[in-house]
Amino acid sequence: MVVLKTKEEIMKMREAGILLATIHQEIAKMIKPGITTWEIDQFAERFMKEHGATPEQKGYHGYQFATCASANEVICHGFPSKKALKDGDIVTIDMVVNLNGWLADSAWSYSVGNVSEEADRLLTTTKEALFLGIEQAVVGNRIGDISHAIQKFAEGRGYSVVRDFTGHGIGKSMHEDPYVPHYGPAGKGVRLKEGMVLTIEPMLNVGTYHAVVDEEDGWTARTRDGKLSAQYEHTLAITEDGPLILTQL
Ligand code: MF3
Ligand code: CO
Repeated sequence: MVVLKTKEEIMKMREAGILLATIHQEIAKMIKPGITTWEIDQFAERFMKEHGATPEQKGYHGYQFATCASANEVICHGFPSKKALKDGDIVTIDMVVNLNGWLADSAWSYSVGNVSEEADRLLTTTKEALFLGIEQAVVGNRIGDISHAIQKFAEGRGYSVVRDFTGHGIGKSMHEDPYVPHYGPAGKGVRLKEGMVLTIEPMLNVGTYHAVVDEEDGWTARTRDGKLSAQYEHTLAITEDGPLILTQL
């Protein structure tokens, strides 16, 4: 069931989104060789608490951390780690902020020090894919229009699009209908209406789109071929004036 949000509710989600975007802005300054994703996780949790918010991911289906930290071949749901990031790594930090019961969800990929041209191009393309998807998030379009725009662009650049994880509706709970695949045909799926709030969160891989979830921890999803993966995610509202990105400053 799709839960439509009022303008007032969207403004509450916007507040959560501004807080989340501020955390990403700070993380961008922190990321350098030698820092650990553990420290980043501690920072994010503390920042949320200092601003009257809570980390929605912590405790979600038993997940233990405020953030997901997914380096290099990790697609998503990596655990924050005390192992230092090193020059040339890429890392995706994903989190969900709960402010007064309303949620916002955003992931961003960062380069650590100087990264390869291959990694840099992957990051740039994944971010562009997100914004091309967002452009399609207008009243009257369908979910498939978002999916198709992302897949066409990503594959046109020689990348694969992860199938096993999708965007989603979001509001008072993290995952609501409709689900938003980042691949598939245009013109299909749920029709977009004013008041829908969605995440779009493409994960692009240099090699195969196949993912393998770590058997030991039950969460960490890696590329099957060990090649790089990146992700950018925003939460946005469908409005009569077009997509309103809630997790952007
Ligand atoms: N932020 C993620 C999403 O986009 C959720 C991560 S799963 C969790 O859906 F368990 F870590 F919360
Ligand atoms: Co999400």
